[in-house]
Amino acid sequence: MRKKIIAGNWKMNMTPSQAVALCAELKDLVKNDDVDVVYCVPAIDIVPVVNALKGTNVKVGAENMYFEEKGAYTGEISAAMLKDAGVEYVIIGHSERRDYFKEDDALLNKKVKKAIEAGLTPILCCGETLEQREMGITMDWIRMQIKSDLAGVAAADVAKLVIAYEPIWAIGTGKTATTAQAEEVCGGIRACIEEIYDKATADAVRIQYGGSVNAGNAAELFAEKDIDGGLVGGASLKADFGKIVCYNK
Ligand code: PGA
Repeated sequence: MRKKIIAGNWKMNMTPSQAVALCAELKDLVKNDDVDVVYCVPAIDIVPVVNALKGTNVKVGAENMYFEEKGAYTGEISAAMLKDAGVEYVIIGHSERRDYFKEDDALLNKKVKKAIEAGLTPILCCGETLEQREMGITMDWIRMQIKSDLAGVAAADVAKLVIAYEPIWAIGTGKTATTAQAEEVCGGIRACIEEIYDKATADAVRIQYGGSVNAGNAAELFAEKDIDGGLVGGASLKADFGKIVCYNK
């Protein structure tokens, strides 16, 4: 049985003091032993959030990292820095980074490998545009992303990672994929992992759905057999996140 994992993606929201206040506000609302709960926060919020969450069930994730060990990469943050600060997860390849910051699959593959090497768990994002969906190439596109981003990654490491399926047209739009659409692609990703690796790896890897997840649709989405939780943007910044985390209560 895979344990559900529900992660907030704060994006570029919350100053350090706002971040600490949000942790306090959500503290009692996000208790659910059936679920791994993660807050993926802006880099500058990591240290205060790690402190604010001490003694709670919530783990901390980063929203990005660079693949080089260290050195002259002004403005970047390494996997070792994240690890040392108390981070356990890192979002890699969010569609906003692919789009606005031109991150391609070759770069993301290096980031995935470095994160794993440093002992971080990648939350690897994939997803299609509305145009790709309408053209009927959703699954081809996502299979290509998964194969490229995981090239050279060992089965034992893939078994431990998290993949987030986020249709780009559903992110921040209030337009959630239907449960059937979300399950179809999450199942397709699992089949792709079985094809590249094996059934045990496919059965172990956790696959989230992301894109306008809210307190009203979480329970139905997370009840699907291939959907192991969610990556939540907008709704992770308010008390509603507690309802999403406690979807089964
Ligand atoms: P959303 O964002 O929940 O605001 O749609 C999800 C995401 O981008 O991870």
